[in-house]
Amino acid sequence: MSNNSSNQMWGGRFAAGPDAIMEAINASIGFDKRLAAQDIAGSRAHAAMLAATGIVKDSDADAMREGLLTVLSEIETGNFEFSTALEDIHMNVEARLKALIGEPAGRLHTGRSRNDQVATDFKLWVRDQLDGAQGALASLMAALLAQAEAGADWVMPGFTHLQTAQPVTWGHHMMAYVEMFGRDLSRMRDARARMNECPLGAAALAGTSFPIDRDMTAQALGFDRPSANSLDAVSDRDFALEFLAAASICAMHLSRFAEELVIWSSAQFRFVTLSDRFSTGSSIMPQKKNPDAAELIRAKIGRIFGANVALMTVMKGLPLAYSKDMQEDKEQVFDAADNLMLALAAMDGMVRDMTANRASLAEAAGSGFSTATDLADWLVRVLGLPFREAHHITGALVAMAEDDGVDLPDLTLEQMQSVHSEINASIFEVLGVENSVASRTSYGGTAPAQVRAQVARWKEVLG
Ligand code: ARG
Repeated sequence: MSNNSSNQMWGGRFAAGPDAIMEAINASIGFDKRLAAQDIAGSRAHAAMLAATGIVKDSDADAMREGLLTVLSEIETGNFEFSTALEDIHMNVEARLKALIGEPAGRLHTGRSRNDQVATDFKLWVRDQLDGAQGALASLMAALLAQAEAGADWVMPGFTHLQTAQPVTWGHHMMAYVEMFGRDLSRMRDARARMNECPLGAAALAGTSFPIDRDMTAQALGFDRPSANSLDAVSDRDFALEFLAAASICAMHLSRFAEELVIWSSAQFRFVTLSDRFSTGSSIMPQKKNPDAAELIRAKIGRIFGANVALMTVMKGLPLAYSKDMQEDKEQVFDAADNLMLALAAMDGMVRDMTANRASLAEAAGSGFSTATDLADWLVRVLGLPFREAHHITGALVAMAEDDGVDLPDLTLEQMQSVHSEINASIFEVLGVENSVASRTSYGGTAPAQVRAQVARWKEVLG
């Protein structure tokens, strides 16, 4: 449509068409064409309802529903010409329907508005993402469970401040992420349950005087019920924000894990070997195998959290009901969803392919005085010392070992007794890392038996 003719959808009161710049800033078809399938599903449900309630003739509704399927297949096969002059996906579809079936197409927009239409389309799209993310998270968790099960009793250093703290098991570390991704999954599930109310039939903002059946359209589109307030239905985008919030938290978890993989795969750590399939080389340094996938996963949080902040900012000052600002809700949600799914798939592949280097893990587990707490606990348990005193004595022993350039189990009994005379040889039993982890049997602790119990529980949960 050219600049000097008014819009065929809403141009009744307009003598002139929009300026080219107006058309450019106003159009959303460049991105909301991604809602085509949802838009057509919504329109088909609406058409069926218009016929069932006697608002349009059955034959007209049949023509609409058939025609809409033709439009969908044209779009899916790339045989559809999107028009910027027609602004958005809703008007592009309707205009094409008009070209295909003629007059009945003009009756499709009875009892609805683009405001409830776009809210419905976008909800359907976000709902698919919430479902897809749940599936991807369950798959990643299964990959982590396999790693945890294989290495339930492989010792490795546990860190605080990235300083060696206490020995833990590989399985325990993997299961920490299973817990995190499990909460991400449940956030997606919660968001889905809360958002599953159908805006269709809220019309522009106030509802409609036509005798529509909102339960019928809600049901046809898989919603639990119609939304109960027409102003709210066309005004809020909290469903997209909940998705972005859950996606941001999930991306943050992915980013932390990715960071660990970057560190662990370095020559200094050698805790894991990433597969060739999920690594890249350097064009100048032949020895290099870089963890690019992990690094990119680590970076994805930037754009995902950015989308969350952007949409929150778009929404925060808007009076009810619809404002055109809300057209800015889509692009960044699309981008965030695409990149979350990509990051989840890449992490899934990396975890499935990676090899934990049991020997390197064990070697690192024993260094850095990692069993100092076990030693202090022994002084409390066996000699009955107060923990504070035991802590002090252990500190002195660590300093002694450090001076000698050895680890705690390498100190002699005589050296130990020079710090506290009642120490006896049984103390050496708790200084081994295997003993250390095996002793941490408190619920949720790192003992292999506890890890195996959690693996079993999660396997049951995931089915
Ligand atoms: N393209 C618009 C959007 O994405 C559709 C709704 C337009 N509604 C309106 N009253 N202009 O928000």
